[in-house]
Amino acid sequence: MARVHVSAPLVGDATERLAAAHDVEIGRLGDDADAWVTLLTDPIDDARLAGAKALRVVANVAVGVDNVDLGACRARGVVVTNTPGVLTEATADLAFGLVLAACRRIAEGDRLVRAGGWKGWSPSFMVGGRVHGATLGIVGLGRIGQAVARRARGFGMHVLYTQRAPLPEPLARALGATWATLDDLVAASDIVSIHCPLTPETRGLFSAARLSSMKAGSVLVNTARGPIVDEGALAAALEHGPLAAAGLDVFADEPRVHPALLALPNVVLTPHIASAEEATRAAMASLAVDNVLAVLAGKPPLTPVG
Ligand code: DGY
Repeated sequence: MARVHVSAPLVGDATERLAAAHDVEIGRLGDDADAWVTLLTDPIDDARLAGAKALRVVANVAVGVDNVDLGACRARGVVVTNTPGVLTEATADLAFGLVLAACRRIAEGDRLVRAGGWKGWSPSFMVGGRVHGATLGIVGLGRIGQAVARRARGFGMHVLYTQRAPLPEPLARALGATWATLDDLVAASDIVSIHCPLTPETRGLFSAARLSSMKAGSVLVNTARGPIVDEGALAAALEHGPLAAAGLDVFADEPRVHPALLALPNVVLTPHIASAEEATRAAMASLAVDNVLAVLAGKPPLTPVG
């Protein structure tokens, strides 16, 4: 029996499966563990790993692994796994929800009605941006980006995408997605949705300069990771242009939200809930547990990283 530490209670029955085979402790990641089941809120760096001499696997219950120092894990012979695939559709749903909410001012309208501010219908009242037929720029056409592209087709949108290597042409054609440089995508898109991982290359990708090169009246949606966007610059671009609105599920310093964003009516804010769907969270837990079980049994992990 190995010692498995799980950072916090998980959704579903995966932890029970783990406990049937191993000695499981929930609520701490101790130095005495053979395996850690971690969350995206657990920073796993070299200092954190140093005392955990028996550690064999870090199973992150997230597709993003920017909280884990992959090099430090590799150097210490610790396997890292994540949970790709199982949260794709849920995340794409939330991204599309933010596209709709930001463009069509849904959250703003809800606040106004509740506050008793609705004085009646008028032709120019709460006019927003168009979703159907708009040009959507997807930054990172991986699993989640592709799921967003499929949704966009249903809305008759023109889809541009950018990433280092363009997709094989038949796949891009099936998705109706056209490759563009980031500069061209940003200049041409009515809506930009971010779906790339947080890496040293993507940190600050949406800088003040990049945001100022976006189309007048455009909308930015981020369900990837907060530090990809310069939040202060985003607030300025929302206040003074060129952006009309934004939808954010992720933030640079969660759960803190930049005060300038909190003060703006034209940004929809959700608390990192893109995968927060019962079945999805249970599937994430289950995949993380399967990875732990595999590594502890001396088998290859299902979804290794790095
Ligand atoms: C992930 O898996 O990286 C998501 O941010 C969790 O919802």
